[in-house]
Amino acid sequence: MNINVIEIVILIILIPFALAWMSLAPWVPTRKKDYIRWLKLVEFKKWDNFYEIWSWDWRVTFYAGKNHDINARWIEICYPIYLYAKIKNIIQKNRNISFENADLFKYDFSDADVIYLYWMPDKNPKLIDKFRKELKKWTKIISYTFEIKWLEPIEISKPTENDLPIYLYEF
Ligand SMILES: C[S@@+](CC[C@H](N)C(=O)[O-])C[C@H]1O[C@@H](n2cnc3c(N)ncnc32)[C@H](O)[C@@H]1O
Repeated sequence: MNINVIEIVILIILIPFALAWMSLAPWVPTRKKDYIRWLKLVEFKKWDNFYEIWSWDWRVTFYAGKNHDINARWIEICYPIYLYAKIKNIIQKNRNISFENADLFKYDFSDADVIYLYWMPDKNPKLIDKFRKELKKWTKIISYTFEIKWLEPIEISKPTENDLPIYLYEF
């Protein structure tokens, strides 16, 4: 077999994308008009630890971090996507926003005050088991569009028929 260096480099770049692609969530970003709606559900306290997970679209993290005095963190397993967001963040000099290249199933969320996700919970219940073991009391979960059937929502925002639901849960 004759594989050259360029092919190996392309493979190394593509493998993380392939893994990300299998992540059982639609590659559809949160609608811009909904940024304020989910933020209203949460009502951040100063220097809350906020995490956005299971999302390639870090704009939710940027928006929350730029408009609130919070520690905003975005966790992403796919290195090229992470690197792009990281460089953008360094250029913008956002001190309260950070990005980590990590597997969320191995990440410790015990300091989280608010977690935002846009993912299909029914396909991956083990994340909820992890939350149950790890999250402190009163940690809030915002689930955009998808209901988490194992948890009881404390609020559901869906102002009109055309709006996507946003679910608020609390541990
Ligand atoms: C399908 S995408 C996007 C979902 C969301 N609807 C959006 O558009 O922002 C899921 C993202 O989660 C990331 N991801 C998948 N599994 C992960 C894991 N175990 N740890 C961290 N990030 C992960 C993928 O790399 C991808 O960027």
